[in-house]
Amino acid sequence: MSKAVKIACVLVLVVICIIVTAGFVIRSGKKGNPSPESINMGSAGSMGPMPPGAHTSEQPESKEAKSPANTVSVDDLGLAPSNGPVKSFAITAEVMKKAGQSELWTYNGTVPGPEIRVTEGDHVHVTLINHLPVPTSIHWHGIAVPNRSDGVAGLTQDAVKPGQSYTYDFIAAEPGTYWYHSHTNTFEQEPRGLFAALIIEPRNRSHYDHDYTLVYFDDYNKSQTAGQIVWQRIQQSFGREVPPPVMVNGKEEEELEAARGQTVRVRIINASAGDMQGTPLRIVPLGAPFQVVALDGHDIHKPQTLSSEVLSIGQGQRYDLVITVPSSGIVGVVNAFSGQAASIGQGNLSIPKNLNDLPTFDLTSSGVPVLSALAPDARFDANYTVTLGSKPGFRFGQIELIHTMNGGAFPDSPTLVVEKGQMVHVRLENKSAEYHPIHLHGHVLTVLRVNDRPVTGSPVRQDTVLVYPHQTADVAFVADNPGLWMMHCHVLIHANFGMDMMVVYPNISTPYTIGTKSGNFPD
Ligand code: C2O
Ligand code: CU
Repeated sequence: MSKAVKIACVLVLVVICIIVTAGFVIRSGKKGNPSPESINMGSAGSMGPMPPGAHTSEQPESKEAKSPANTVSVDDLGLAPSNGPVKSFAITAEVMKKAGQSELWTYNGTVPGPEIRVTEGDHVHVTLINHLPVPTSIHWHGIAVPNRSDGVAGLTQDAVKPGQSYTYDFIAAEPGTYWYHSHTNTFEQEPRGLFAALIIEPRNRSHYDHDYTLVYFDDYNKSQTAGQIVWQRIQQSFGREVPPPVMVNGKEEEELEAARGQTVRVRIINASAGDMQGTPLRIVPLGAPFQVVALDGHDIHKPQTLSSEVLSIGQGQRYDLVITVPSSGIVGVVNAFSGQAASIGQGNLSIPKNLNDLPTFDLTSSGVPVLSALAPDARFDANYTVTLGSKPGFRFGQIELIHTMNGGAFPDSPTLVVEKGQMVHVRLENKSAEYHPIHLHGHVLTVLRVNDRPVTGSPVRQDTVLVYPHQTADVAFVADNPGLWMMHCHVLIHANFGMDMMVVYPNISTPYTIGTKSGNFPD
């Protein structure tokens, strides 16, 4: 680039950054009336079923509450009777203030909160007790819960007021690595500490010597000022990715035990809020060959043994690894940007420079294919395209970097209507220079194609699919869980700036509303 072009670029960026920062500062200042008064997101009465092959539905004419007689309320979409063993948990959301640290919001007094470990088939019963000064709710990320237990404020429940409680019920159906977090003002509440791991162990216990969880999240002691975000944005625009510092299990570095020859399962959860660019976590397993055995809780069929690859893990995603401690006595899970390590075993872990230059793990060719109805060449009952964009503009009377799905920002983004039993194909087209890990509630997405390259290995099933800047991802799911569900970017600032939409089944009503009247804000 010539110097003049560079300077021009910087100027344009500075202006964008100022707009973004202004939006950011104004929003965090909580002045004015940032959101609509009352919006009802029910599908009842406002939308009919979509013909196969149709694209995005029309906006419903009115989003005011309507509940014609032939509708089902989200409150009635609870758990069917089960005879699974009941496992009950109590989670108290509370404030924690330690000298010299920023005030944290915690589940049961720790950040991350307590790991919930259950067994496949268990009936999980969790009571959230709110001791925070603000309303809150819990979302069970990646679990196909019944709609009424999805934890989305203003959609499936009213946010739980201070001093009150709410009980969630679901079946731990598919073993794997999941997590839970606040879904009320998520943008603020999750980074303050309201998140934790949720592990479903297989009924037939697996044979690993150790089973560790690594929860990555933003370093709340180094939280970013608006100025730092601007500077980061400028650097990123020149191809220098400088993600904010992360902590692993609440520490700078983690040390875990294992002896030579032992096999360790490592469950990596990216619970970070993400930066403006949505830069994924980049992790390199070092010291021994490893396998990626599961993505977002779903097993890879016959995974290969790998070495020297970067795992690019978007916000909300999980990667499960299996690694055997070699004769050196130590292996590590290393952050490719910073060299920050979680070490397993004892000894000296040598961390090469330029880890970030290693090739990235390719999920389209990992493992071995198995027959699956949701194959790249399958015929689908409905095909949708969802474009992901961002542009500076006005929203709720404020300047912000608006993030859109099919041109609209939540709650004015178009809705996808699906019918029970349909096989639905969604093409995600990222028209922006940012990363967007797109998360669908209540269902599992199967990745068909990444940037038009079909998946040739094991089926890839994820609840959060990372769409790279200016790339596409074709995904599919079976509509088997009636309700009102969100689909949104898991970069929390992108979601807060509008990158959310609804995936709904026809004729479902909700008694809850989003807006200042109810105080329910999902993102
Ligand atoms: Cu993990 Cu709607 O979010
Ligand atoms: Cu995004």
